[in-house]
Amino acid sequence: VDYELGGHPDFMYKEMTEQPDAVDRCLRGRLDRRFMSARLDGIGLTPREYQQIRRVKLLGCGSAYYAGQLGAELIEQLARIPADAEPASEFRYRNPVVDPETLYVAISQSGETLDTLAAVHELKRKGGRVIGLVNVVSSSIARECGSGLFLHAGPEISVAATKSFTNMGVALALLALELGRVRDLSMADGRRLVDGLLALPAQLAGILGQEPGIAGIARKYAGAEHMFFVGRVQGWPVAREGAQKLKEISYVHAEAYQASELKHGPLALIDPEMPTVVVLPADDLLAKNLSTIEEIKARGGPVVAVTDADLPDGLVTDVIRVPRAERELAPITHSVALQLFAYHLAKALGREIDRPRNLAKSVTVE
Ligand code: G6P
Repeated sequence: VDYELGGHPDFMYKEMTEQPDAVDRCLRGRLDRRFMSARLDGIGLTPREYQQIRRVKLLGCGSAYYAGQLGAELIEQLARIPADAEPASEFRYRNPVVDPETLYVAISQSGETLDTLAAVHELKRKGGRVIGLVNVVSSSIARECGSGLFLHAGPEISVAATKSFTNMGVALALLALELGRVRDLSMADGRRLVDGLLALPAQLAGILGQEPGIAGIARKYAGAEHMFFVGRVQGWPVAREGAQKLKEISYVHAEAYQASELKHGPLALIDPEMPTVVVLPADDLLAKNLSTIEEIKARGGPVVAVTDADLPDGLVTDVIRVPRAERELAPITHSVALQLFAYHLAKALGREIDRPRNLAKSVTVE
């Protein structure tokens, strides 16, 4: 059965390897080739209702919050609807304005995180329209939201989220696609994204196939006391999630920063003992990210690039190459590479992968 390790060293490893299938399940029946859009019956909104949405607010905790941040970027770029993410743990305590023209999205693997559940209660009490993006079908958040999208990632046992994070990204891309296609996202862009989503499982399998190379790079950095993770715009939640993974399972101090903000403070910390992982997709921001890399190199900082761009040899200290995905979906491929990086760095330090100290898989208490 699913809960057994089946020869894998731990659940995190098993769950990372399941990602191509998990993505496939999340997409099944949800792509609409006639309109080059998504078919999201579980949300239960008509095209007209989708058009009436003026803002989107995404709520979650931990990795689910970072996925929400990625979703906000996708929705804003593809649908041109103002969108932002906030930790559900903050939202529930700050007496937020609840607006009837906003679509609220509660994101949770377990569907039991108390902070997220409390945010949903607060929203509903104030008349907000909230849908759930949840993995566990019979969970409290799924029940409380009443509509939404199940992630279909399958059971996730490891404390560190892997396949659930990936499927949150996929589900949010589907939502952004649907919101875009009832506005002015073109048929051609719709087709590009539909094809891009369908290509993801094979791309993720390609990254998993590169594991020995990624493990070798991760081991090189196992002696670092601190690491930076940087990315721009949609690469920023990828950097945050990459740093979070490393902290959770290796206990190495990792800090994520917007690459653009590095020069406004944290650059002071760069020296040969401070490696930086740069999320470097081949998108419009490539040149900007390359100049960030130059700034780091000029201070002697080692650079690990996670990239689907063609980098000249010797530009950075180490390169983790990922297959080229559609630019909006690149955060998903880059994140999976960073999961493997964190995993092998933690392994090199002899950490207990599935049971990191001080953490629980789901936090169901105050
Ligand atoms: C805990 C876990 C995190 C997870 C967060 C949200 O803090 O340690 O890995 O991201 O809860 O969990 P959820 O089940 O709501 O996605």
